[in-house]
Parts: sequence; C-alpha cells; structure tokens
Amino acid sequence: MNRRSFLRAGVSAGSFWILRGGSLGGPTAPSNQLNIAMIGVWGRALAHYDSLNSENIVALCDINENHLAEAAKKYPRAKTYVDWRKCLEQKDLDAIICCTADHTHAHIANWAMHRGLHVYMEKPLANSVEEARVVRATYLKNRDRLATQVGTQRHAHPNFNRLREMIHDGVIGELRAAWAWGNRQIRRQGYLPAQGEPPPWLHWDLWLGPSPYHPYNPGYFSGGPGANCLQWNMYWDFGSGQVGDMGSHTMDIVWNVIDGTHPVSAEATGEPFNPEVTPVELTATFELPKNDWRPAITVQWCQGGHMPKTPKDWVDLNKIGHGAMFKGTQGIVVADFTSRMVIPVGDRADLTYYRPRPPEKLLPEPGHFQREWIDACKGDKRTSCNFDYAGLMIEMMLLGLVAYRVGRKINYDGETGVVTNIPEANALLRRTYRDGWPLQP
Ligand SMILES: NC(=O)c1ccc[n+]([C@@H]2O[C@H](COP(=O)([O-])OP(=O)(O)OC[C@H]3O[C@@H](n4cnc5c(N)ncnc54)[C@H](O)[C@@H]3O)[C@@H](O)[C@H]2O)c1
Repeated sequence: MNRRSFLRAGVSAGSFWILRGGSLGGPTAPSNQLNIAMIGVWGRALAHYDSLNSENIVALCDINENHLAEAAKKYPRAKTYVDWRKCLEQKDLDAIICCTADHTHAHIANWAMHRGLHVYMEKPLANSVEEARVVRATYLKNRDRLATQVGTQRHAHPNFNRLREMIHDGVIGELRAAWAWGNRQIRRQGYLPAQGEPPPWLHWDLWLGPSPYHPYNPGYFSGGPGANCLQWNMYWDFGSGQVGDMGSHTMDIVWNVIDGTHPVSAEATGEPFNPEVTPVELTATFELPKNDWRPAITVQWCQGGHMPKTPKDWVDLNKIGHGAMFKGTQGIVVADFTSRMVIPVGDRADLTYYRPRPPEKLLPEPGHFQREWIDACKGDKRTSCNFDYAGLMIEMMLLGLVAYRVGRKINYDGETGVVTNIPEANALLRRTYRDGWPLQP
C-alpha cells in the first residue's frame, strides 16, 4: 500500500504517517524519519543542512572527496559515494536531495524516481526540453507515491499567493500578458582551456557525467559556496545560463499565477549565437493557450539588460533586478519576489470590478519550503513546486533557447513535444550524452 492509498483508506493526513518501510507513528517518530541521500554535499547543499536535522542522512555523494569528508564529519554514519549511480543503489533510501551541477539534474531526478525515491532537486530541473518532458512524465506516472520539489524556495514567500489571488480576483481585469526579467550578466568567452590535471580528490570525469568531454580547468571550481554554479552554468554543456538560473526563480512568480501549460509558439532574440556559451542578452516570447479562467496570453522572459517596456514613464522597471509584470484589460501589476504594486490604467479602471476574497478564502501558505517536501514525503500533501508544475515551466523556458538558436518563431505541439513548422529545430530539443549516462536508467 502506498502512502496515498494508505491515507485514502481512512487515516487522515497528519494523524499517522507512513514511509516506504511501512512503519507508523508521528511525523517525528524515529521510525518515520526519512532516510535521505544527499547528492552534492557542499555549496548550495549547505543551505539544506538545518532543515534536514529531523531526518536520517544515510548516504552522501560528491565528486569532490574533500567536500565529502567535510560532510561526513556532520553525518558520520552515512555511507559515502563519488558516483551518484552507485549511491542510488543503496537499499534503505527513501529520498534524495540533489545539489549537483545542472547538467546532471534530469538524470539524477529520473533515475531516483525510477527507484521509487522522493526527490528534492535544486533548480533548474532540466537542461533541455526533452529532459524536462522525461522527468515530468516519470513524475506524473508516480505522483501518487512520490513527493518532488524543485529548489525555488522563494516560492514560499506570501507574495506569490497574494499575486495569484489578486489577479484571479480581477484587480487588473482580464489577464492579457505577463513578463519576467532578470538583470544578472555573466560574460564568458568559451569553455575554459585545459589547465593541469584534476587533483586526486576531484573526479572530473564524474563531474562531466552525461555531458560531452571537456578538458579540466580549475576555474570551473573557483567560486564560493552556493555561488560556484556561476563558474559553469553559462556553458551549453553544463547549464542554460540565466534561463535556468534566475529564470527558474523569477518566472516562478508568473507561473504561480497563470496556470500555464505548453506554449503553442516560442520566439526569441538576443546577442549573436555562441556555440559554447549561452546568451547573456535574451528576450523569449511565448504564446500560451487560453484556459478556464483567462484568454490566451503572451508570456515573455527578458534577461541580461533586455527589459519589458515600462507601463508608465514614471515606473523604472530597471530598478527591479529580478521582477515580473502582469497586464490586464484594466491595469498592470508590477512585482518582485516579496512585494507588488497595482496600477489601474484607463478612465474606466475604477476597481469596482475587483472582488478581493475574504480573509478565510486566502490561499494557505506553503510554510517552510524544504519542510513542505519532507512532510509530503511522509504524508499526503502536494508540494508547491513539484515536477509537474516546475517541469512545464522549465520546458517553456528551455524552448525559448531553442527558438533563439533557430532564429525564427517556432510552433510547438506540447502534446507530442514536436516543433511543427521547422523540422530541424527538433534536434535542438535534446542533448546527446556520453556512453554510460542514459537519461532513462
Ligand atoms: N535555490 C537556490 O537559491 C540556489 C542557490 C545556489 C545554487 N543553486 C543550485 O544548486 C546547484 C549547485 O550549485 P552550487 O553553486 O552549489 O554548485 P557547486 O559547483 O559548488 O556544486 C555543489 C556540490 O555538488 C558537487 N557535485 C557537482 N557535480 C556532482 C555530481 N555529478 N555528483 C556529485 N556531486 C557533485 C560539487 O562537488 C559540490 O560539492 C546548481 O544547480 C544551482 O543552480 C540553487
């Protein structure tokens, strides 16, 4: 019996909890602590240590043996690995939390779910359209028994739900368009040249994992904890630049409001294409079909200095480093991660059409973001950034990079995952992997 059928059988969420091992008790009972593997134990992973105090860390995996040794001091009983494929074979695991480099995320998420493991995956969930689709499909097949969360922890801020409520309740009339933007600019020339041998404690070939071979250079590891991703995420084989980096966080402000599905088209412009480095400057525009509460809308992602047009000369959107904007028939909402501003526009924008919901109808807060996932692993709750929600969003964003590379508007069939008007674009939906690193285990 899985956790959801167990709960459906008459035990309400919160009163009893069940893990894969089948033990019962309160959520913090020792028998109901999750057995978690941490894959990638340094950098961003350090931000997860505190929220994992209530659980069992039974496995640690890192391609850097120095990082592994540091983590093992905190979790001395955990088994250690340098290869995540071996780590996932450990028998007593319930869940993994993964903070590795982007080009391994989809593989690790997909392999872990195939082994029946709950997954918390740092953003971005995928590095290609195909990866986003495969990971989401695996999750959808297992959603009744697996809890997943993408690490877009800003989502837990109340501003996200307040924006959703006010736009659904009509503060700007009928929604027509939405934008998200980010101004981070990291310029790279090309892959770093070969420089020395990898030190004995660093497994360069395992770091490359599924990606094509590139020579070692210590520059890929020269960043501080939690910021080292900026040393490699601009390169096509290791990341998707700001699309997957701050784009994962910032488009989430929009995605939480619009109930988006697959776009029917994507179009993008930016700086000249560099086959080694993802673009700094980019504007990607998507057409999303109508749904049951709004008409078809356009959604735009702007980065690296590209910006939406300001709705009023006295609003300087450039003052918001990472922000979002919604345009409706009666006005505009401008937001960042933690605040929002409504601008009624036009002589008839008297707000009489706006019916804010009463306090008791406000959406519940997700609470602590990592905790939301841990609770979902044990109970029947759904996480707010599960692989269905986040998978669709990153699929759209990555399709923007495909449109950028093609240089023309592409029409997209979201059911089949096919670009219908430019056949050669379909090759850009996927990455090729080195032997031994298939996306499907
Ligand atoms: N949610 C957030 O706010 C946030 C903030 C920073 C980073 N991140 C994300 O976290 C991830 C890691 O970023 P970072 O700056 O910590 O990077 P990093 O390069 O420092 O890597 C983190 C750790 O993972 C290890 N690692 C890398 N590849 C591995 C592999 N294949 N197997 C096992 N271990 C591996 C590294 O050795 C390191 O110890 C990135 O995907 C990044 O986008 C998220």
